[in-house]
Amino acid sequence: MASRIPVAVLGATGLVGQGILSLLADHPRLRVAEVIASPRSAGKRYDEATTWRRGDALPAELSALRVQAGDDPVTSSVVFSSATSRVSTELERRYIAEGRLVISNASGHRMESDVPLVVPEVNADHLELVRGREGAIVTNCNCAAMFVAMVLAPLHHTFGVEAVQVTTLQAVSGGGYPGVPSLHILGNVVPLPGEEQKIERELQKMLGSVTGGGIAPAAFAVSAQSHRVPVIDGHTASVSVRLGRDVEPAEVVATLEAHRGLPQERRLPTAPPVPIVVTDLPDRPQPRLDAESHAGLVATVGRVRRCPVLGIKMLVLGHNLVRGAAAAAVLNAETLDTMGLLPA
Ligand SMILES: NC(=O)c1ccc[n+]([C@@H]2O[C@H](COP(=O)([O-])OP(=O)(O)OC[C@H]3O[C@@H](n4cnc5c(N)ncnc54)[C@H](OP(=O)(O)O)[C@@H]3O)[C@@H](O)[C@H]2O)c1
Repeated sequence: MASRIPVAVLGATGLVGQGILSLLADHPRLRVAEVIASPRSAGKRYDEATTWRRGDALPAELSALRVQAGDDPVTSSVVFSSATSRVSTELERRYIAEGRLVISNASGHRMESDVPLVVPEVNADHLELVRGREGAIVTNCNCAAMFVAMVLAPLHHTFGVEAVQVTTLQAVSGGGYPGVPSLHILGNVVPLPGEEQKIERELQKMLGSVTGGGIAPAAFAVSAQSHRVPVIDGHTASVSVRLGRDVEPAEVVATLEAHRGLPQERRLPTAPPVPIVVTDLPDRPQPRLDAESHAGLVATVGRVRRCPVLGIKMLVLGHNLVRGAAAAAVLNAETLDTMGLLPA
């Protein structure tokens, strides 16, 4: 087996960073060599700096790693970036200038036209934009846009998407730890205006196409409304879509169930066997029952039916911290690796 590529994780003590560390603990190709967090954590052993908030055990070989500060020099040529957005955006610029490949969860650089915004089952071909670049960044999308993109991709490819209406119900863990105060969210629904434009623009970019050195966004209209709800993990999206022709709900279900992407075809280490699972139970998906399904790596779709306004409607759910964040970044790294785009 080829040796494992050393990587640095910025934001290693956070919810997403912990997920990345857990996924890389026994990874066949990648090894966590450096962990980076805030000045509060810097200089401490990882197990002293972090409160491990996951159900699985802290990987033993990572416990004694010394946490670095953002200002410290980095040696790894690959950096996973999952610090708070402002910090990530700044440090990512430095890593790119130093010639490193950054794989980011943060939103700062997502909409730059030459930056691939990738979910490998949706648009792995966009990763070609970094081929031959000395320093570069690859981003994954907003955690609520993720599952909608996974579902729209095969529909767009097969029927053409003409218009989309999305209403999200987003979990509290989507805002990082400790999230919004309990008195604000318990028994409440909180609009998230900052998320809506991200979802709209990111969906159009991911379903767009590579033209020269950038991405031409897809032309369909998207309207998003976003809300924080008192759910711990798992973002739900109510999605209505107008397709290029009149399509029966059964055809939509068959198209979603048949979909496979590059991660499935190449059996990448973190890829689920199928990216989309469709349930025919009338009251599913539900975050408490379905977010952890298939290790949190899939989009679960239910209630596919006719919509009198746009033609087809459905309910889509996914685990925001797993497929929506940590596993999204790890799958992007694995996809770059299988395409020969990951530096050693
Ligand atoms: N939560 C989700 O569902 C989700 C989904 C998709 C994308 N994202 C994105 O992923 C990123 C991380 O989210 P999260 O939920 O893991 O947040 P989090 O739990 O609040 O973790 C934030 C991380 O940033 C580090 N940090 C803070 N200030 C820093 C500084 N000055 N220098 C270096 N590191 C610093 C923190 O270190 P300390 O522990 O030392 O403070 C911690 O490791 C965010 O950009 C977020 O938008 C999150």
